Amino acid sequence: MGKLQAAYAASVMTDSPEKPDIVVSIEDVQKHYQLDNETIRAVDGVSATVGRGEMLAVMGHSGSGKTTLMHLVGGLDLPDSGRIVVDDREINTMSDTERTLFRRRRLGIVFQAFNLLPTLTALENVMLPYLVDGRSSKEATAQAKNVLDKVQLGHRLKHRPALMSGGEQQRVAIARALMVDPVLILADEPTGNLDPSSSKQVWALLRALCEESQTTVIMVTHEANAAAHADRVLFLKSGQLSGEALPGGAGDAQLVADRYAQLAD
Ligand SMILES: Nc1ncnc2c1ncn2[C@@H]1O[C@H](COP(=O)(O)OP(=O)(O)O)[C@@H](O)[C@H]1O
Ligand SMILES: [Mg+2]
Repeated sequence: MGKLQAAYAASVMTDSPEKPDIVVSIEDVQKHYQLDNETIRAVDGVSATVGRGEMLAVMGHSGSGKTTLMHLVGGLDLPDSGRIVVDDREINTMSDTERTLFRRRRLGIVFQAFNLLPTLTALENVMLPYLVDGRSSKEATAQAKNVLDKVQLGHRLKHRPALMSGGEQQRVAIARALMVDPVLILADEPTGNLDPSSSKQVWALLRALCEESQTTVIMVTHEANAAAHADRVLFLKSGQLSGEALPGGAGDAQLVADRYAQLAD
């Protein structure tokens, strides 16, 4: 490579502070539900950005709008107003087909209930995103083994979900989300059904993905321990942002827990 090309390559690869590398931009988003005579402002004017390789935790009490917000960012639902841009694509102006393909090819979505198919093995469950996208079974097998290795389940390929622990099942679900090398992983209470030690494995894995692959992760959690390992914590209250914290690791779990407890006031 010539000197000029090398300088150009370096310049486009550097994240300059003036132009941060934003993966998610949420701009004054509203999502309301009408139930009988009551309007529920599930998401009520939220704005936020999330950077490449950033791990963002979202905390808020039950009903504060966390899942609604995750669905909007993942294009599983559309906002009433405002804009959501993910990986330079505006989610709310895509056609339904575009949005489905975008989600399938660029995003990894992980739920609290692992949502694995009970009759399929770990390997087969993880292969699904490729098969649904029309890739060959050979390609799907190779990539599925690769991502199952990444979540340290290379030895569980033939296990069906019922024969795996909760923590293992959630790691299979994360492997499935990794099939497409997503730019963004959305995890809605991924550790909600897990014991403390499996829970730690799961959030540590998400943390490692941020650092090693520069994948952006948004994780909803009730656990201050998990949130303390995120780069940033956003607190939601009644559909609105209610501040943020910048924890610095395990030592800040108490700080996050205190901040979370204040949401009740
Ligand atoms: N499809 C829906 N129809 C009516 N109300 C809804 C619907 N989905 C969510 N809500 C309401 O919106 C609010 C936020 O819900 P949700 O985003 O699931 O909160 P969280 O995930 O923080 O517990 C709640 O009051 C909930 O009852
Ligand atoms: Mg929820």
